[in-house]
Amino acid sequence: MKNAVHLKSPQGWINDPNGFIYYKGEYHLFYQHFPYAPVWGRMHWGHAVSNDLLHWEHKSIALFPSKKDDRSGCFSGSAVEHDGKLYLFYTGVNYTEEDPENINLYLNNDFTAAQLMITSDDGVRFDNINDKRTVIPPLTDKNIGCGINTRDPKVWRGNDAWYMVLGSTSDNKGRVLLYKSTDLTRWEYMSFAEKDGFGWGWECPDYFKVDESGVLIISPMGFINGGKKYNEITVCVLADFSEKDCTMRLSDNYQLLDCGQDLYAPQSTTDEDGRRILVAWARMPEPMDGFRIGMFCMPRIVEVKNKHIYFRPHPNVEGRFTKKISDTSEADENGYKIVLELKNGDSIDIGGYVLERRDNKIYADRSAVFAGHDEIKCRFKTPEICDGERLDIYVDKNLIEVYINNGEYVLTNVVYGLSGDIRAKDYELYTIAY
Ligand code: FRU
Repeated sequence: MKNAVHLKSPQGWINDPNGFIYYKGEYHLFYQHFPYAPVWGRMHWGHAVSNDLLHWEHKSIALFPSKKDDRSGCFSGSAVEHDGKLYLFYTGVNYTEEDPENINLYLNNDFTAAQLMITSDDGVRFDNINDKRTVIPPLTDKNIGCGINTRDPKVWRGNDAWYMVLGSTSDNKGRVLLYKSTDLTRWEYMSFAEKDGFGWGWECPDYFKVDESGVLIISPMGFINGGKKYNEITVCVLADFSEKDCTMRLSDNYQLLDCGQDLYAPQSTTDEDGRRILVAWARMPEPMDGFRIGMFCMPRIVEVKNKHIYFRPHPNVEGRFTKKISDTSEADENGYKIVLELKNGDSIDIGGYVLERRDNKIYADRSAVFAGHDEIKCRFKTPEICDGERLDIYVDKNLIEVYINNGEYVLTNVVYGLSGDIRAKDYELYTIAY
């Protein structure tokens, strides 16, 4: 069976989703990949395709280091289609000094970061030797951004031009940089946007418009959140982007991408029906099956109602969990879905992962299924819930996604060693119907 529901690495290491796009009738999802071991290292772009957002077929590696500007790794980036061609934009890094004991890592936190472009006629074949070009060299003006920590180009088509947002830092404060181009190859720096109290540097920005609202998603580094490991958590802010002068205004409020705080570095695109969809990396402290680490949450539809951002499961995935079962042992390897109404005072224990509703908030506790990872948070809660009591919970061996009221909030957690027992008052169980 193909890799379904949650995209996982075929082997080795996965982090951020990259170049997510519906292109020539298929979804292409690239990802940060170190193919040789389940550790972060010299980054390649792995590649998977899907025609339904449920099943993923792994392709051969799309990008690998080959130029001076990307000799130490092909970092994150995005894709656009233009005149039938696929264009990938990404950050190439070049370490000033490699760690002699592991040449895939740098010493002294010193490297250059440039923005590169590569194209493809079919979305599958890339000429890593002849077709890469540097479109934005490493920054030298500190007032704009840092020459090291400026990365992760997200490109989109505006009305009259192409736009790019980059994650960056200046004066120890995170920011995004905005660039403009009319031909995809010459990029002009236009402006920056920043926000107080959101860490020292921003990674993986994504900007899009949905339901008439502009949304900026950023993954800040050093965002203070209890001081536990993974204090880098992804946040969403409503944003006004003006194409006329290429400036972005960020709202004061923010929302977490996911209340479980394991998801990071998401990337969005539009699906074949034009809906905004998003996937994100689920950070894992230890490998699954011993040899591979990292996976993505299932594709989510992004909607904005009354200034609140909703993330609900994509209907292509949700719509397939229709086979009713009475016990978790009847589920296949892609897991199962639990549907229930959780009222104040109620709880559900899913093989050791506990959810409880109190004061109209959902509390999650994974301490029984996350042994040995005390440095990472185990208890989470949502803000107060407005819309109702329904939970749709997707349970995979190593990832639980809890959708509250069809996406008012989502709480996603990595787990290890779940049992098959469920304890709750009333619930329904489903698995994928083939
Ligand atoms: C985020 C990130 C990106 C970078 C990539 C490197 O997880 O640090 O900013 O491009 O991972 O793998």
